[in-house]
Amino acid sequence: MDTPVNLWKPEYLLDVDVIDEQHKGFFDLCLNSATLCESARNKPIKLADVIHLIYDMRAYAFKHFHTEETLLLKYGYPRIYGHMSQHDLFLRSLQQFTAELHVELAKADKAGQEGFLACATHINEYLATWWGEHILTADQDYAQFLRERKGKPA
Ligand SMILES: [Fe+2]
Ligand SMILES: [Fe+2]
Repeated sequence: MDTPVNLWKPEYLLDVDVIDEQHKGFFDLCLNSATLCESARNKPIKLADVIHLIYDMRAYAFKHFHTEETLLLKYGYPRIYGHMSQHDLFLRSLQQFTAELHVELAKADKAGQEGFLACATHINEYLATWWGEHILTADQDYAQFLRERKGKPA
């Protein structure tokens, strides 16, 4: 297995500082979680630490979506509903994955532990992929709108 790397890329930049910092922070969390899961292959770790990182990502997503949606409302972004729906779908997926994680954890045996780590690894991959795609499409779309909007008088 490869050593986990930070999957943030420069093409994710939207030129909106607060958003770009939050996007970077999210990929930092993904890396921490992937590194922790990877280290669990060679030495015992506290599974609660992995759960905490997944919870941190959930809290971070709530915070980020709130920041973003407030910005879109402020500038009257016309596709805000579709954008918010994507955020909602993401949160629902995360909720489902977290439930699966707890089912594996509750087994409290070696198979359960392996299932737990496989599930956590799957969540990490899903999260990084989802954020990458969402930033490059939906977020870049509103960033373009904001650039055009800011160029016009209020
Ligand atoms: Fe978004
Ligand atoms: Fe975003």
